[in-house]
Amino acid sequence: MNKFTFTTNSAHDTQTLARDFASLLRGGEIVFLRGPIGAGKTVFVKGVAAALGLKSSPTSASFSLMKRYQNRRFTLFHIDLFRLSEGEVFNLGFEEMLEDEKAIILAEWPDPLARMLPADRLEMDFTLLGGDKRQITLTFSGPVSRALAEELWQHANK
Ligand SMILES: Nc1ncnc2c1ncn2[C@@H]1O[C@H](COP(=O)(O)OP(=O)(O)OP(=O)(O)O)[C@@H](O)[C@H]1O
Ligand SMILES: [Mg+2]
Repeated sequence: MNKFTFTTNSAHDTQTLARDFASLLRGGEIVFLRGPIGAGKTVFVKGVAAALGLKSSPTSASFSLMKRYQNRRFTLFHIDLFRLSEGEVFNLGFEEMLEDEKAIILAEWPDPLARMLPADRLEMDFTLLGGDKRQITLTFSGPVSRALAEELWQHANK
């Protein structure tokens, strides 16, 4: 099985899941967040940043596609490439994130980045189930993302 499914019943629930998830991070993780507008991807990312005690720090003005949150332990890159194409994000310097060993990369609308980043990444698929209910499905593609998915599953089900 390379798939784990979670259900949340409120934004608060999704933040709780994000907090559990944050406790598993060591740096070097890549997460692709997918799902329609309003599905809860940003809620999740903000939950992770808050749980890690990260403060938003300024990125270069020309680079509003990426928000950087930083402390001594981690650099969290929150990327949102809604409606952008690979050609439009090529050459913007995203590869630099990969030189930061403390980097945690959380990307919404990540398709334009797919070929630039390593294959081992966790895919989180958000589905609207009606009202405030969301289904969040995790799929992994390598050892780092696999450990994350399995540990979150254990964490949530203990
Ligand atoms: N179970 C839930 N999990 C997350 N958010 C929820 C949930 N139920 C309701 N919400 C609400 O849904 C909205 C989710 O917005 P959010 O900005 O996180 O979506 P998004 O997936 O990032 O969309 P976009 O693709 O536009 O960036 C918020 O207003 C949040 O309060
Ligand atoms: Mg968003």
